[in-house]
Amino acid sequence: MEKIRRTTIKELLTHPSEHEGSKVDVKGWVRTRRGNKNVQFVALNDGSTIKNLQIVFDLSKISEEQLKQVTTGSSLHVQGLLVASAGKGQSVEVQADDFELYGTAPAETYPLQKKGHTLEFLREKAHLRPRTNTFGAVLRIRHALAFAVHKFFNDKGFYYFHTPLITASDCEGAGAQFQVTTLPLDNLPLTEDGKVDYSADFFGKMTSLTVSGQLEGELGATALGCIYTFGPTFRAENSNTPRHLSEFWMIEPEMAFYEIEDNMDLAEEFIKYCIGYAMEHCADDIAFLAEHFDKELPERLDFVLKNDFVRLPYTEGIKILEESGKKFEFPVYWGVDLASEHERYLVEEHFKRPVILTDYPKEIKAFYMKLNEDGKTVRAMDVLFPKIGEIIGGSQREEDFDKLNGRIQELGLTGMEWYLDTRRYGTVPHSGFGLGFERLVLFVTGMQNIRDVIPFPRFPNNCEY
Ligand code: 4AD
Ligand code: MG
Repeated sequence: MEKIRRTTIKELLTHPSEHEGSKVDVKGWVRTRRGNKNVQFVALNDGSTIKNLQIVFDLSKISEEQLKQVTTGSSLHVQGLLVASAGKGQSVEVQADDFELYGTAPAETYPLQKKGHTLEFLREKAHLRPRTNTFGAVLRIRHALAFAVHKFFNDKGFYYFHTPLITASDCEGAGAQFQVTTLPLDNLPLTEDGKVDYSADFFGKMTSLTVSGQLEGELGATALGCIYTFGPTFRAENSNTPRHLSEFWMIEPEMAFYEIEDNMDLAEEFIKYCIGYAMEHCADDIAFLAEHFDKELPERLDFVLKNDFVRLPYTEGIKILEESGKKFEFPVYWGVDLASEHERYLVEEHFKRPVILTDYPKEIKAFYMKLNEDGKTVRAMDVLFPKIGEIIGGSQREEDFDKLNGRIQELGLTGMEWYLDTRRYGTVPHSGFGLGFERLVLFVTGMQNIRDVIPFPRFPNNCEY
């Protein structure tokens, strides 16, 4: 092979005129091969774009025998002239002069044959599914969204603040933590009264994987002003739903001097920015997913971008649900934690647009939320989305030391002295929220199951790779 600099397929297809007429060097995986006795066509994909590059093999120059192992899934290095293509479906193609086969993919064993695999089947082969069109599209969109998150906050002057993954506190108080320990589980050291002796554990106390970086994020915000976190989050809830993962990524902005209204404005602007960014940078991938899975996807994305989110107090939301005349599986009454069917009724049937529900009963929300003057509700805000339900959970925080400490005592939380210091010293009104990154990816890709928008999903009874 000649020494020519390799070009990505994305580059060739985005700027064909810059390369047409010259000899190019491309590398990738074979998606399909077809043709006749005179000519063979290979669709080559290198992951840089959903689009394949057509490679034309002239059988008078390259023998059929040489091409025998060029089958779906094999990996190739090809050199040849980039020319305008006569065939439909592509503007340019490569007339192969020379090629080398990096690796074969025998059809008898390679699981990803041309077409027609269900998402369930691909979940069983999650280690190979990134090579399919569908997962290539999802993963490129996921990347674009992650990049958009950083760009949005950086451009606004927020600082990316790293909160720990191993922690000794339980932010959400939901008791859904994975414990972290080096103690021998089959021979635990015990204290005199028969309890596990955590002083002998690695950190000298009981520790877990984080369920949220918020509490540490508040320390950042009360020093740097506006921060955001973006990291893995772990929850040991036994929720086998299409919207829950045991390991997911969460983005948690936290802002000093923000009241609940500022928090809602930011949440709405942020989500719209991320969706708009993906629509602009991943048009091909979104079009592919729309065509194959969800015809209404582009319309739904556009609709969310162009319409204001409804802002509605929980109490009014309950009223709407009660008066809907709809038979829900779970009962509706003031004080209930809304089920997904209730959230989706408000969003999809009643308002037909995203809803920010505020001022929830304090009993169903976390201890750190600011108490309203009614003494019954807190300044919570959940952003509810079509098809998804809750995509963001957030609140204004209780900045009053006595009220916060009272709530901590009431709930019997311990080890919170460091957190209370934010209210002891220079306390300020502040707010924040958490966006479940995979729920955003779910919305933007139109996929149905959260296990299909993260490369290696973790859920109850599943931890492959
Ligand atoms: O509503 P949550 O529990 O809020 C918090 O953790 C706050 N500390 C956030 C904050 O105010 N800084 O979780 C926030 C979001 C949810 O709205 C949801 O989108 C996502 O995280 N989420 C999950 N996503 C996937 N799988 C799970 N098991 C999730 N649990 C929550
Ligand atoms: Mg929540």
